[in-house]
Amino acid sequence: MSAASALGACSGVQSALDPAGHEAREVASLFWVMVVGAAVVWTVVIGVAIYATRLRPDPHEDIVGHRLILWGGVAFPTVVLAGLLVYGLGLMPKLREAGEGLRIDVSGEQFWWRVAYRPKEGEPVLSANEIRIPVGERVEFALTSPDVIHAFWIPSLGGKVDMIPGRENRLVLKAEKAGVYRGACTEFCGASHALMAFDVIAMDKPAFEDWLGSRPADPARAKGRDLFTLHGCGACHRVGGTEAKGEVGPELTRFGQRKTVGAGLLPNTPENVARFIRETDVLKPRSKMPAYGALSPDDALEIARWLGSLK
Ligand code: CUA
Repeated sequence: MSAASALGACSGVQSALDPAGHEAREVASLFWVMVVGAAVVWTVVIGVAIYATRLRPDPHEDIVGHRLILWGGVAFPTVVLAGLLVYGLGLMPKLREAGEGLRIDVSGEQFWWRVAYRPKEGEPVLSANEIRIPVGERVEFALTSPDVIHAFWIPSLGGKVDMIPGRENRLVLKAEKAGVYRGACTEFCGASHALMAFDVIAMDKPAFEDWLGSRPADPARAKGRDLFTLHGCGACHRVGGTEAKGEVGPELTRFGQRKTVGAGLLPNTPENVARFIRETDVLKPRSKMPAYGALSPDDALEIARWLGSLK
């Protein structure tokens, strides 16, 4: 890999070294302080090694050797490591403070994300596999899991936190730049662990408030809707405004707004959604949704088109 492409990996939608949020900026500074600290220590050690092997290889007096061990081997590392530790630990308490009003519950499931927005006032808003947040507000995430341990990480916005069954972990993040970022599961959680991502859309606050407060459009009457009902999709998925009330699988109300299908797997196009419906087992090994391979490609596409119209 060339140096240019190696550095290219440091920018973009999923990089802790290209921070777009307050907490991520602190993590990035911690990283650079550690890098510089490590570089200084390395240079000093190599310098001493060159001195001892090349410049003055002959024996030194005992007293000089003892001083070197005391200062270079005990005092210097103690001071440097303690300093870095205090600096690193000092960044942590703020990540646990309460947010400024909006709380978002995120639950790691196999292999998707259950999302519920809980504004200070008003009804919770349910969603999945995509998280929208207002820029400039400290948003509190309540993280949990019903099955196995997952880990929630949006590198551009902050550090990662485990999602542990039977526990609720808290994480507070503040986005500073509007944009679309990528989050991922970073704890092995089964066969499709690597296929468990999500989009994070940081929006200007008024646009976010409008979005959160707006009512989803009434689901269209369409052939795809009838097929969705006929094949029992509503047993697992909920679509607001229809008889589909399932809670086992991802919420599909406003599915047409999402950028991806299958938790960050494929761009949300009717063709990809139809393929996901028919080849779930191939696209997402061991996920709980059965593949509807018996559905004709045309019928799958009708369902996909209707889902895409939900906004
Ligand atoms: Cu969920 Cu890895």
